[in-house]
Amino acid sequence: MKKPLILVGGGGHCKSVLEAAESAGYSILGVLDMPEEVGKEILSTKVIGTDDDIPAYVDKAEFVITVGFIKNPAIRIKLYNKIKEAGGKLATVIASTAYVSKYAEIGEGTVVLHQAFVNAGAKVGKNVILNTATNIEHDAVIGDQCHISTGTMVNGECKVGERCFIGSQSVIPNSIQICNDVIIGAGSIVVKDILKPGIYVGNPAKRMHSNKYVLTPNLGGANYRLSPLSGCLKAA
Ligand SMILES: CC(C)(COP(=O)(O)OP(=O)(O)OC[C@H]1O[C@@H](n2cnc3c(N)ncnc32)[C@H](O)[C@@H]1OP(=O)(O)O)[C@@H](O)C(=O)NCCC(=O)NCCS
Repeated sequence: MKKPLILVGGGGHCKSVLEAAESAGYSILGVLDMPEEVGKEILSTKVIGTDDDIPAYVDKAEFVITVGFIKNPAIRIKLYNKIKEAGGKLATVIASTAYVSKYAEIGEGTVVLHQAFVNAGAKVGKNVILNTATNIEHDAVIGDQCHISTGTMVNGECKVGERCFIGSQSVIPNSIQICNDVIIGAGSIVVKDILKPGIYVGNPAKRMHSNKYVLTPNLGGANYRLSPLSGCLKAA
């Protein structure tokens, strides 16, 4: 029997995950999105409620978070915590055309989209996005709450910290270490370890002198523009 799944968050990334989840044999029960989207459809799947309805579905389906992130993972982290606090189960979704070695580990809530490749000995954390056609090579470690974007190459024995975004088509050569809370711009090549949070771009990747996006695990911080009075998706 197909496993029922709820997608939390509408938008473009939701469509990619929906496609991957159906290919992996899930039956999509519905999408939870912003209040004004309720009743609409995303790829023929109904928006059945908001993130405030998560508790009503914990006995009916598993969940996966389908809000994307580039500069700020706060909404994804808040939703992850909200599902856990409600007693919900996070699904690990692996698209039918992705390859995950039997010697690799993938955490709960993580999505491995089409044509992604995770080689032997790799360890991928929780609530991670391995986007379309990423390559996570042998023994690489990807921390919780990261987004490894489309077509990116993370080579053997690299260690990527938590809450990092690695932009499309970037290259992380073997054994490089990247600390928590780092953004790598699209098409960058990281040639040495990154030990300080921030935004890095180019070839060789260099720190951008900007503090526009301060990534901090302090989710109450003003940087995240989250309203304490409303559901996470409404605030997004
Ligand atoms: C790194 C990034 C987040 C920075 O965004 P931003 O803060 O809005 O940056 P800006 O567009 O204001 O650019 C600031 C400067 O950095 C440069 N820059 C930005 N991204 C760059 C990149 N990827 N490579 C090289 N230089 C880059 C810009 O040219 C600009 O330079 P200037 O000040 O000399 O004009 C963004 O450019 C990026 O790469 N996003 C990732 C996109 C992606 O991979 N999407 C996939 C989604 S699945």
